[in-house]
Amino acid sequence: MNVKQIAAEKAVDDFVKDGMIVGLGTGSTAYYAIKRVGELVEKGFKLTCVATSVQTEKIAEECGITVVDLDDVGYIDVTIDGADEVDPKMQLIKGLGGALLREKIVASASREEIIIVDDSKLVDTLGTRSPLPVEVLRFGHLKTKKALEKQGCIATLRVKDGETFVTDGGNHIYDCRFEKIDNPFFLESRINVIPGVVDNGLFLNMATSVIISSPDGKVRMM
Ligand code: A5P
Repeated sequence: MNVKQIAAEKAVDDFVKDGMIVGLGTGSTAYYAIKRVGELVEKGFKLTCVATSVQTEKIAEECGITVVDLDDVGYIDVTIDGADEVDPKMQLIKGLGGALLREKIVASASREEIIIVDDSKLVDTLGTRSPLPVEVLRFGHLKTKKALEKQGCIATLRVKDGETFVTDGGNHIYDCRFEKIDNPFFLESRINVIPGVVDNGLFLNMATSVIISSPDGKVRMM
């Protein structure tokens, strides 16, 4: 079993109970959680699932999971999702997979947000390993880039397969490389007031548990 699968399966086995409303994350770690949820559905669990991206919706359907719209449910019992960085206070950077906006909306509607990572994602200070993804409107995005860079980063427009990346919401992403993010709450308040910014990949005070797996097979929880 690979290191991502270990954290993902532990999260599903510990947190998903029959009858729950479950948020399905996006990315290569969340993929294994979706597959595990699919196994539970096959066993007869009655689960209502909400996907954080079009990609996740497709994987879920392939696994026999019925996906409903977020607005078809009042709240989500538990969401299981990956992250790009986790600091000692369980503050996160997410969005290298491009789904940060829906992921944040789903996380906000969730009673529990379980983050699954391998130990390479742990950092002392946010921004030291990963750039901060910021989703921006396409309109005037070069102006938005300039405003982002005034916050002390180098902002690079995300390109995938030779094309400018377009999110599920039809927007672009700037990957903002900071030396480090000492005060994520302050930075978030500065970024979110820039016209053209749709959302950013800082997930602050959102994770309720973090499950961390190591290549030696060990798992621990924050
Ligand atoms: C998707 O937009 C992201 O937030 C992912 O959750 C994050 O990038 C982690 O992905 P991996 O599990 O593939 O590293």
